[in-house]
Amino acid sequence: MRETMKAILVEKAGGPESLNFVEVPRPKPDAGEVLVRLHASGVNFADILCRTASHPGMTPPPLILGCEGGGVVEGLGTGAHRYREGDRVAVYSPRGGTYAEWVAVPEDYALPIPESMSYQDAAAFTHVFLTAYHALQTLGHAKEGEWLVITAAAGGVGTAMLQLARAKRLRVIAGVGSADKFPVLNKLGVEYGIDYGTADLGRRVREITENRGADLILESVGGSTFKQALSCLAPLGRLILFGISSGESPAVRPYDLLKTSSTYAALNLSVLFAHRHDLIETSWRELLELFEAGTIGTLVSQRLPLPKAAEAHRLVESRGTTGKLLLITNGSE
Ligand SMILES: NC(=O)c1ccc[n+]([C@@H]2O[C@H](COP(=O)([O-])OP(=O)(O)OC[C@H]3O[C@@H](n4cnc5c(N)ncnc54)[C@H](OP(=O)(O)O)[C@@H]3O)[C@@H](O)[C@H]2O)c1
Repeated sequence: MRETMKAILVEKAGGPESLNFVEVPRPKPDAGEVLVRLHASGVNFADILCRTASHPGMTPPPLILGCEGGGVVEGLGTGAHRYREGDRVAVYSPRGGTYAEWVAVPEDYALPIPESMSYQDAAAFTHVFLTAYHALQTLGHAKEGEWLVITAAAGGVGTAMLQLARAKRLRVIAGVGSADKFPVLNKLGVEYGIDYGTADLGRRVREITENRGADLILESVGGSTFKQALSCLAPLGRLILFGISSGESPAVRPYDLLKTSSTYAALNLSVLFAHRHDLIETSWRELLELFEAGTIGTLVSQRLPLPKAAEAHRLVESRGTTGKLLLITNGSE
């Protein structure tokens, strides 16, 4: 095994130009960690926030970016016992490190994958489907037949939510920032799409639901989109915030919730990994069953070689991407 590896390092917070393709020492697994040789890394909006040092829960630069990937266990730290060398895993790494050939993570942050799931699938599946699952179920308590509104619905997490919502037989209204994204919604069987770049999300949801409003709203944009979403909650509705892609932090007055006796909650997947691993394990088993049955799947719009990470960031920031972008780190599977 080589002692060095290729990786994307951010020395100092900045724009996409601050992503440097460099040779760095290969990580060594600490006690309780596994070393994983990565085949692919998922590009997430969270990586943009890490690069610019604006993610509240993640390590600021200098760091190797990337919080998810798929690969093979190639080393075990002292006391690590969940895996053997050669095991195929998906990796979630909130401290970064997956824009690289190898990453070392605590063994709880590696999840087993079946033969039917490729490493690229793992890199495009893990973060988005776990987030979608826990927003929809653990916090959202979604029930069959309810009206569900999803914002940024054509994105990575959004398309995972659409698939899980379809499996759960919810009535879905999908919001996107431009009408160019409607074909992705159509492909996923969405009946009601709203372009909140030109239309008022709240007003359209009220029209579609014949003035009832949405039982559950999964929101990740913030700013005016959040405000419009809050205005169309049904009585006893739930609004789950799981991101602020616009950078405009939403303000909620308790009175807004009193009017409809609504619940407002926020999801942070890394908190579940750190404190409720039991929930992660149950959800992972359920998600793999749905994947193997073909009920849900990955939606990769672009694959780029690792050195082109800056291009991937520019694409995500342009707000024009749909589904997932992958960085290919090793091999081709
Ligand atoms: N809480 C958690 O644990 C957790 C876990 C995973 C992801 N997330 C969050 O979930 C959201 C989706 O993540 P993702 O990786 O799947 O990204 P994504 O949805 O593929 O991309 C972000 C989307 O946000 C929308 N957006 C609105 N304003 C934007 C702006 N000013 N710049 C860029 N995009 C903007 C765009 O969709 P439209 O143009 O259609 O609006 C864009 O496509 C992000 O906010 C991310 O931070 C949270």
